[in-house]
Amino acid sequence: MGKALGNPWRRLGQGPLIAPSLLACDFCRMGEQIAQAISAGAQVLHCDIMDGHFVPNLSMGPGVVKSVRNFTDHPLDVHLMVSDPKRFAEVFAQAGADSITFHIEATDKPGEIIDFLHARGLGAGITLRPGTPASAIEAVIPLVDMVLIMTVEPGFGGQEFMANQLPKIRRIRSLLRPQQRLEVDGGINPRTAALAASAGADVFVAGADIFGSGDIPAALEDLRKGASTERKS
Ligand code: DX5
Ligand code: ZN
Repeated sequence: MGKALGNPWRRLGQGPLIAPSLLACDFCRMGEQIAQAISAGAQVLHCDIMDGHFVPNLSMGPGVVKSVRNFTDHPLDVHLMVSDPKRFAEVFAQAGADSITFHIEATDKPGEIIDFLHARGLGAGITLRPGTPASAIEAVIPLVDMVLIMTVEPGFGGQEFMANQLPKIRRIRSLLRPQQRLEVDGGINPRTAALAASAGADVFVAGADIFGSGDIPAALEDLRKGASTERKS
């Protein structure tokens, strides 16, 4: 228990992955809810980090990630929504993340952060706000293990999926090598997971749909069905 195993994206093979977003946990019952999600088959745990500056909300700090790390050796997929990703990549690598994703809008030196993560054996992901065009990350795509397409405006759980991001998912998928992962985050439920899967997504972050459901195993099972929808090119 409690071991960072490093870059999870290749280790987990090629099929669709479900990544419950811990932001939607009941923080007083986090361990119990994480254990339920893992035994119901969730392969990755998604940790949303907000600094009240890059996004207008605060979430969890490194202490929480460290506790989750001590609780499980399941892959921790840390999503930084912060204005200083270089500093916080170091902080959350130290806290036990297996992969760290940062926003292209927050840095003009993405290569330095990616190199730092790879030098530590961690996965590196790049992400972008819904209003940022795919072209903003095209130069970085060959360097990362995973691209995260935000399907809501980052900052809050429980928002509605933005279907206008589907063309971006298709476009980015066409630029990825087969081993690179394409994650979607925001408003994911069985229906929207199916839409994103048919556009090329293969990692599905879901918060409210899983932890707000009252039945974590049933929610995961339904999500898995949506996520298994075949890609249409
Ligand atoms: C939003 C976060 C998401 C969020 C998703 O800023 O990045 O990970 O927790 O939550 P749901 O699935 O509830 O939209
Ligand atoms: Zn997220």
